[in-house]
Amino acid sequence: MGRMPKFDVVSIEDLAIDEIERIFALADEFSEALRAGRPCAVASGLIMATLFYEPSTRTRLSFESAMHRLGGAVISSADMHASSAAKGETLADTARVVSAYADLIVVRHPYDGAARVAAEYAAVPIINAGDGSREHPTQTLCDLYILKRKKGRLRGLTVALCGDLKFGRTVHSLIYALARFGANIVAAPFGGMDVPDYVLERLAAERNYRISTVTVDELKSQAGGLDALYLTPSAPHQMALFTGENPLEKLPSARPPAALDAFYVTRLQRERMADADRTGGGYVHFDARALRTSRAQQAVVMHPLPRTDELAYELDSDPRAVYFEQAAAGVPVRMALIAWMLERAGAAAPKAAREPAIRFKAEPSPRCANPACITRHESAYLRPRFHLARSADRSQLALRCDFCERELRVEFVGHAKSRRYYRFDESLYGYVRQWIEEGSLAVFETVKQAEESGYEPYRRGPQREVMNAAEISAACAAMAAQIVADASDPTALALVGVVSRGAVLAMRLRELIGERAGVRPPTAALDVYGEDAALHPLDLTGGFDVDGRAIVLVDDVINSGWTVQRAMTTLWRNGRPASVKLAVLIDRGHRALPIRPNYVGKRIPTARNDRVRVRLNVPAGEGEARRPGDRVVVYSMVDSMREPEAAT
Ligand code: NCD
Repeated sequence: MGRMPKFDVVSIEDLAIDEIERIFALADEFSEALRAGRPCAVASGLIMATLFYEPSTRTRLSFESAMHRLGGAVISSADMHASSAAKGETLADTARVVSAYADLIVVRHPYDGAARVAAEYAAVPIINAGDGSREHPTQTLCDLYILKRKKGRLRGLTVALCGDLKFGRTVHSLIYALARFGANIVAAPFGGMDVPDYVLERLAAERNYRISTVTVDELKSQAGGLDALYLTPSAPHQMALFTGENPLEKLPSARPPAALDAFYVTRLQRERMADADRTGGGYVHFDARALRTSRAQQAVVMHPLPRTDELAYELDSDPRAVYFEQAAAGVPVRMALIAWMLERAGAAAPKAAREPAIRFKAEPSPRCANPACITRHESAYLRPRFHLARSADRSQLALRCDFCERELRVEFVGHAKSRRYYRFDESLYGYVRQWIEEGSLAVFETVKQAEESGYEPYRRGPQREVMNAAEISAACAAMAAQIVADASDPTALALVGVVSRGAVLAMRLRELIGERAGVRPPTAALDVYGEDAALHPLDLTGGFDVDGRAIVLVDDVINSGWTVQRAMTTLWRNGRPASVKLAVLIDRGHRALPIRPNYVGKRIPTARNDRVRVRLNVPAGEGEARRPGDRVVVYSMVDSMREPEAAT
């Protein structure tokens, strides 16, 4: 057992604002002492171990330098391929063993959530020096320290993050910290490399914080661009959008461009990308031109390094380039962190316990869907653990991995006592909460898996048909007529159907609109829970540009409105439509968000626990008569939910 108290820095969120401020004050003292050549031996007699399962120059060497400067000693496994890891030793075993050799362990690992595992198994404190694409909290300390030194403050600064915001772990830790310090964040992701949803959702749920998004070109150019700060896609103005007016036109036109305080440019994290995602060229390139715009005059240029081609060498001589200062800060800041951990020993109250995870007693227990999650690689001893996803959206069930935070969408749920399984929908949400508390929730990827685990389908209560095939056709025709009547320019129309039944309806509306207007609007499907936020063309037009289009979003049923809200967010990631309207076959009420559909096939008052099922046959081919069988039914879950319990 080491001589430092057990306090792990796995996430930047493990450090409170005042603790970070204290670390910065110590870093100032250490910088000064180093400059003056004064000794700072607060860690003499202590040993730090560095376990690096991934390459590193700055992080490892500055940690080791920091420990030496503090009078401590360092033992190092800089290349874990030369250690027992190469023989297949687990991270847990290594962390336990090394705890007997050192008072503090610094870990870098290629898998998401690895630092959490090391922290749980090590008896001594763990500092995360980068775990997969998740976090890199000590890089953030260096980043914030320099940013604050340059700007005098953090609150109210506007920081533009540019490049690979998906896999860049330094970016994720920085985002959490900037949000807490009250800075504004503008994200300018390289195509497809957006800030991951789990990061955005954590910000929204815990801090009610939203990031603005612009394109890399907008960030670098003087014109337009940062007006998007006032119109963020993650906070769509739903009421305004669904009136069909163009909300962009309502912006005051002569808004001066917002001044930027920092550009934080990052490398493309090629090593984390699947082969299919590896793009050839075309990545962000940041050079002196980007600093010539008036809003960039006072901006510093930051980079966690190493750089590849994204940062031109010509910038190095510009006084606004501070990336080598960030790297140099590694020593005093890491000295300060270690000294603070020692200082904290006597005083500090124990850290608040983490929120307990959902225990899955029943087999099969769910598996994290993130291939880079540590639980996928060390499954011999790690039981996957989850929380309910943070989003308040109850129309879908999603679990959040306790290790990597990635969300897992659940289609089928089971009740372990009654051995019944259900396809999840909103009416089950309350029950699922209860099953989690009882420890009786089971989840399945497929019906086959549920049945092989000995679960039977639930029995439905009595069904009530609320629309037949003829009524559905008539409702679609009426909606199509109204869409055409409202369209000032039918050629600007485009349909976006929410997967899956919304997409089927969108294809039907496309034909009906074509018959009336003489032109079929291009049509795409959108999967609000898909991995990529792309629109998938449903016709032979090969897709369309969202910019400037009069979009009609199509779904089968609107209930709380959460699905529509998600669809809006996804749509906005694809461009800026001129207007967005909403068409739904059924409005069943119970709205939780201020969303009003523009076109409704039928309004059906329902009880909260009722389920509404829309069945639509997909036509087999162009022009072929639709097969009978389309219908909408409503049935209750409540009786069938009680029934199995009564039987046990
Ligand atoms: C970063 C890392 O390893 O995440 N490097 C660092 O520690 N400064 C950034 C990177 O590798 O791109």
